[in-house]
Amino acid sequence: MLFKVAPDFSLRNSQGEGMDLSRFRGKYLVLYFYPRAMTQGCTREARDFSRLLGEFKELRAEVVGISPDPPERLAKFREKYCLEVALLSDPDLAAAGAYGAIEEGKILRSTFIIDPARTIRWCRLGVRVPGHAEEVLEILRGIRAADLGLNPAIRFRRAYRALSEEPVPKELVQRLLEAAHLAPSCFNNQPWRFVVAEGESLEAVKEALPGGNYWAKRAPVIIAVASKPDLDCKLSDGRDYFLFGCGMAVGNLMVQATQMGLIAHPIAGFDPQKVKAALKIPGDFVVITLVVVGWHGDSGYLSEKHRALEFSPRERRPLADVAFWGYFGHEGGSG
Ligand SMILES: Cc1cc2nc3c(=O)[nH]c(=O)nc-3n(C[C@H](O)[C@H](O)[C@H](O)COP(=O)(O)O)c2cc1C
Repeated sequence: MLFKVAPDFSLRNSQGEGMDLSRFRGKYLVLYFYPRAMTQGCTREARDFSRLLGEFKELRAEVVGISPDPPERLAKFREKYCLEVALLSDPDLAAAGAYGAIEEGKILRSTFIIDPARTIRWCRLGVRVPGHAEEVLEILRGIRAADLGLNPAIRFRRAYRALSEEPVPKELVQRLLEAAHLAPSCFNNQPWRFVVAEGESLEAVKEALPGGNYWAKRAPVIIAVASKPDLDCKLSDGRDYFLFGCGMAVGNLMVQATQMGLIAHPIAGFDPQKVKAALKIPGDFVVITLVVVGWHGDSGYLSEKHRALEFSPRERRPLADVAFWGYFGHEGGSG
C-alpha cells in the first residue's frame, strides 16, 4: 500500500458539502477510517486527533476522519465532543474500499498519511486507538523532515558513464519521454522533439560520437533532443525560449530516470550533421543534446579519468557564487 498514488474520493462532510482529495492540495493529509461515530473507541480517536490538530497543522497537515455515518450524525458527533477534525461520510464504503480499509464488509480502523504529491507514505490497517494519534504525529514529523531535505533523485543523479549493455524495455523509455513531455514551457509551446534512436539509427548515431564519448557506444538507448527557435517564444532582450524548454524537459527526464535506477546522461559531444542524417531530423532543427540512457554497469571499460569521476564527490562552485539575495552579485545570506 505504501508509495501508491492516493485514490481520489468524493464524499460529503458534516455540513453536507462535497469534498475530494484536491481540496487538500499542497498539504499532508492524515486520513483515518473508523467504524461508527459516537462509539467509545471512535470518540477517543476523534478527540485525540482533535487535541493534536494544532501540531498537525504546524506540519502543514490536515486530519480527516471517514466513516459510513450520514452527515447529520457526523455534525452531532462533532458538536457533542467539540471535535476539530473534519469528518466525511462514506455511506457505501466506496472510499474505504479504494483504500483497502475494509474487512468482512465493514470498516477496518485504518490510518493513511498522504503527502502533497498525493503519495501514500504510511498506513496502518487495524489501528489500536490508545496512543495512535501521537504515533501518527511522530511518523508525520519524520516524513516532513525528510521531505524538506534535497529531493533524493536530484541529489543522487550524476552524469554516470559506467553503462550496462542490458536493454531498457520500451515501456520504460516511454515513461522517460512522458516525464520529459510534462515539463512546463512558454505558452505551453512544448518545443521539444525527441527521437529515440533504435536498431540501425542507433548504430549510426554512435558513429557520430567523438573519441571522448567512447563510453556512450555501449548505450542501449540514445534519445536525441531537437528543436528550433520558432517552436517557442522569442521575446525581447534575447529571450529565445526553445533551448530553455528543452532543458526543462531533459531535467524531468533525468530525475525520472534516476528514480527508476537508470542513467540518463546528456551530452553535447557529437557531430550534429551526422546525427541529423542518422535520424532524418530536418536541417533547420538544432540537435540540442543526446541523452545517453542505460542501466548502471561495470566501470571496467572506462578510462582512468572517467572511472575516477564515476566515484568522485559532486563538484559545484559555492552556491554564493551563483545565487544572490537582493541584488546581482550580492551575497546576502542569513546573517
Ligand atoms: C549540455 C551538456 C553537455 C554535456 N556533454 C557531455 C559530453 O559530451 N560528454 C560527457 O562525458 N559528459 C557531458 N556532460 C556531462 C557533464 O560533464 C556533467 O553533467 C557535469 O560534469 C556535472 O557532473 P554531474 O552531472 O555528475 O553533477 C554534459 C552535460 C550537459 C548538461
